[in-house]
Amino acid sequence: MKNILVTGGAGFIGSNFILYMLKNHRDIRLVNLDLLTYAGNLENLRSVEGDGRHIFVQGDIGAQALVAELFEKYDIDSVVHFAAESHVDRSIEDPGVFAQTNVLGTLNLLGCARAAWENADGSWREGVKFIQVGTDEVYGSLGATGFFTEETPLDPHSPYSASKAAADLFVAAWHDTYGLPACITRCSNNYGPYQFPEKLIPLMIHNACNRQALPVYGDGLNVRDWLYVEDHCRAIDLVLQKGTPGEVYNVGGHNERTNITIVREIIALVHDKVDPAVDERLIRYVADRKGHDRRYGIDPEKIGRELGWRPLVPFEKGIEMTVDWYLQNADWLRDVTSGAYLDYYDKMYSGR
Ligand code: NAD
Ligand code: TYD
Repeated sequence: MKNILVTGGAGFIGSNFILYMLKNHRDIRLVNLDLLTYAGNLENLRSVEGDGRHIFVQGDIGAQALVAELFEKYDIDSVVHFAAESHVDRSIEDPGVFAQTNVLGTLNLLGCARAAWENADGSWREGVKFIQVGTDEVYGSLGATGFFTEETPLDPHSPYSASKAAADLFVAAWHDTYGLPACITRCSNNYGPYQFPEKLIPLMIHNACNRQALPVYGDGLNVRDWLYVEDHCRAIDLVLQKGTPGEVYNVGGHNERTNITIVREIIALVHDKVDPAVDERLIRYVADRKGHDRRYGIDPEKIGRELGWRPLVPFEKGIEMTVDWYLQNADWLRDVTSGAYLDYYDKMYSGR
């Protein structure tokens, strides 16, 4: 039996990971520590309500006494650390909370893991592991060619990516200084069910379904490398099981698209599936994001070679499944957009 502390398990990728793990493993207990910020939603986990292998705890990863208690009470032997402030636009507006959660929160988890797992002689308890779920954004921005490898120097630009790079470096320091068995994954942009509609794909689906303007930053030609969320979850599970401590694994599926291409694909799907009135006249080119990274592209060769991972969901299939999911889960979309998100949306997009 593995006892895994999953942080941020009510968010987009964290909740998909919990659903994936419960479906694919019998002998596990997942302790899900999530503060339930605007981005966390227990509705994401409704389908596993009553499954005794999932225990939800509402709380802050930065709360030392709480995290120490969870390690002890549930005999935690692995940590999969998703919890973060994750939206670049918010980090530009309000960077402080990104340092608080992403850097200091991670530091607290590391301190608690060490207190629980390090033996008196400096060795570590058998079988323990800490997975830091990182992002390719820590590598900065690419030109027209080339890919991010695990050796690419860190060069973060936004407050979000700076905070994630700092967290990665603390995890690496815990491995190098104290010997914590830790791996870092760095994944490209995810899409799929349960993503909060502030990120590009769910925002465009939400707005298109409501015949609202589709705000495209700058010239729309920035490139992101998209991966279906379940493929990411499978990669994390593999790194948890077989990843070599001290190693970084980049995760991506060679699926680069410009933003405007993505927006056009979503318009076409919504047009064909539900509303023939939705068309490209909804597109609005708006002011560019400050410090907007031009291109991300992952080289996933290492995780393929060492752990046998490869993506299973092609983009054309994944984007259609995602649009279908949002169309079938209009209640979810309505609920998560009824509170804090709307204030934020009004502030960010009013007048555009
Ligand atoms: P998300 O914003 O959807 O979810 C974050 C979750 O963390 C929420 O449930 C929130 O309530 C929780 N949380 C926030 N602050 C907390 C705190 N102080 N204590 C406990 N819980 C807290 O984010 P996501 O898109 O699911 O991303 C998860 C992780 O994956 C992040 O670390 C992110 O940097 C990383 N990542 C995301 C992507 C992507 O495309 N979304 C790509 C690569 C890596
Ligand atoms: P986002 O989903 O915020 O992910 P990230 O910035 O972490 O890659 O944005 C993806 C891309 O889409 C990014 O280049 C910014 C752009 N974008 C828009 O053009 N309009 C929008 O409304 C949003 C949210 C993003």
